[in-house]
Amino acid sequence: MNDPRSTTPHLEKYYSKRAAEYEQVYEKPERQRELEWLRRRIPEILRGRRVLEVACGTGYWTQYIAPAAHHIYAGDISEAVLEIARDKPIAKGKATFVKADAVTLDGVPPGCNGAFAGFWWSHVKKSGITQFVANLSRRLEPGSMVVILDNQFAQWSSTPLSRRDAEGNTYQMRKLANGEEFEVLKNFPTAAELADAVRPVAREAHMESLTYYWLMVFTLK
Ligand SMILES: C[S@@+](CC[C@H](N)C(=O)[O-])C[C@H]1O[C@@H](n2cnc3c(N)ncnc32)[C@H](O)[C@@H]1O
Repeated sequence: MNDPRSTTPHLEKYYSKRAAEYEQVYEKPERQRELEWLRRRIPEILRGRRVLEVACGTGYWTQYIAPAAHHIYAGDISEAVLEIARDKPIAKGKATFVKADAVTLDGVPPGCNGAFAGFWWSHVKKSGITQFVANLSRRLEPGSMVVILDNQFAQWSSTPLSRRDAEGNTYQMRKLANGEEFEVLKNFPTAAELADAVRPVAREAHMESLTYYWLMVFTLK
């Protein structure tokens, strides 16, 4: 099927159905040390900024970024995850949750000078990454700080890859608690691919590689 969008069409449905069980992904014992580090590192980078969060999900990262940020505008396409996010213990006035499409970014508020996207990059087709980076940077102020967090593939901890398509995108079969299965696009880009993707818009970019995660931090021109 020739899908004009840069991610897979059933992704919203999959995450909506997974909403209540989503945060189990943050309970994997082997990942706790790195998560603890990331929970301190990410808010520090975005301290004092007006942050746009893309595909915020249940607000797991929003709750840690909000206290450090000036304000965080967190968007997701799924009402089911936003409902959970709105219940996070975040001080009044620090976060705004909105329904927003990460592909078009239509309607996201202007004036942000920081951005965060957790585990969204890996769901974007390789052919859609340039457009995502360009779209995001167009919505932000010059000099904005952008933080992208995603997974490294770790054989002993990650869901196995089920196939690779002609463009090189990789997929996983994901099973929900009710037994329903979804094929989900999940890419594991190399450091070189990441650097190439942000070069057109970034003044400075660097990667922080852990065992289970990678962080890419860049400043917009
Ligand atoms: C892997 S989860 C990441 C959630 C959150 N950022 C985190 O790190 O915990 C991916 C999120 O993308 C959202 N999503 C799927 N398609 C989307 C789209 N077109 N626009 C915005 N969000 C989308 C899903 O609802 C889901 O919450």
